Amino acid sequence: MSLKQTFQVAPKGTLQGNMRVPGDKSISHRSIIMGAIAEGTTHIEGFLEGEDSFATLKAFRAMGVKITEPHNGSLSIQGVGMSGLQEPTQPLDMGNSGTAMRLLCGLLAAQKFSCVLVGDESLSSRPMKRVSEPLRTMGAKIELEDGGMAPIRISPSQLTAINYDMPVASAQVKSCLLLAALYVDGVSTVTEPAVCRNHTELMLQGFGYPLEIVGNKVTIRGGASLKACDIDIPADISSAAFFLVGACIAPGSDLTLKHVGINPTRIGVVNILQAMGANIELLKQHEVGGEAVADIRVRYAPLHGIDIPVDQVPLAIDEFPALFIAAACAEGITTLSGAEELRVKESDRIQAMADGLATLGVKHEVKPDGIIITGSAIGGGVIDSKGDHRIAMAFSIAALAADREITILDCDNVATSFPGFAELAQSCGIDLRVGTS
Ligand code: S3P
Repeated sequence: MSLKQTFQVAPKGTLQGNMRVPGDKSISHRSIIMGAIAEGTTHIEGFLEGEDSFATLKAFRAMGVKITEPHNGSLSIQGVGMSGLQEPTQPLDMGNSGTAMRLLCGLLAAQKFSCVLVGDESLSSRPMKRVSEPLRTMGAKIELEDGGMAPIRISPSQLTAINYDMPVASAQVKSCLLLAALYVDGVSTVTEPAVCRNHTELMLQGFGYPLEIVGNKVTIRGGASLKACDIDIPADISSAAFFLVGACIAPGSDLTLKHVGINPTRIGVVNILQAMGANIELLKQHEVGGEAVADIRVRYAPLHGIDIPVDQVPLAIDEFPALFIAAACAEGITTLSGAEELRVKESDRIQAMADGLATLGVKHEVKPDGIIITGSAIGGGVIDSKGDHRIAMAFSIAALAADREITILDCDNVATSFPGFAELAQSCGIDLRVGTS
């Protein structure tokens, strides 16, 4: 068996200074997808050089798109236009990335060639019917493995328009269908049950593609084209979240996270922490390419438990591992409901976090759709991240409030979303050593 990375994190610490976390993962995927099917050359700054966004990049190279090698977050894509993608000779490997797999399903269902999408063990156990079913309604030829999972086999077909009320608030499903709808002769609508991230809509508009957004409904007519543009990708609030929580729970902390995306559909973590009593300021707010950006200053303040408002759940969906640590350090009880989607992320994040909290001696009660956490002293011990990047980073941050060392197993996948996490954590005051076991 091959060795895997472990993080050994010493207890206590204070977070100080300024830092910029890597580029937004959701926007990085979309920038490659849209740059590839645009007319002209798209220049990107701030691209996330992580394994997930590289999976998307490699897939488009395999379909004949010329993309320069990313260097310090810069790259260029020579767009091939709406119908210029070529049939890949091998299955496209989406690695650990649900976003890559689900968004590409929509785009590829509309192409004139066949292809197969595969993923790692975690991705191959995640639900894909949520995209195959509406795509089939559009006429797509798409086959899943038994149980509704990857590998996904897609054959060419002429798609028709859809009017779809999404049963789950999922930006991946919405984006998948919008990408398919680009190729349809007619008008499609996609309605989400609750607001979820809108990067696809904003970026389509940035590429000059017309669409209409009214409330939770997006209306789009197929057949227009995307025009290449320059994209400046902000730092990922989902990566910043670990340090936001870290500074909230480590006495004496004063940390500024630079140039972070604060799109209102992503800002749940800030809203929830502020409701818990956090001292967070959004400085230098401005817009870059339609996306809101700010420097986020966070200083230590004692937190208290809250009932997390259900409307904040999709706006903070990737930040709950970090928020569970905030809840463990808060005075009183924090309750989360309406978050069953956490069970089908890179791991079952409710169970993975509950198991880790149990190791640290934090009182909690698991519910089918959430958790109840009672703030308490944080102990130490050995925690299995279940190969989930965000579980590994959340427990690294927990050490700031722990009274003993925390060792986290199976941390290689941190590189999917946050290359350089260990070094950045060390640079701002976390005593984290990388080892193997
Ligand atoms: C993403 C949407 C969310 C999120 C994921 C990225 C996206 O997934 O959890 O990390 O880029 O569209 P769901 O659409 O499944 O909620």
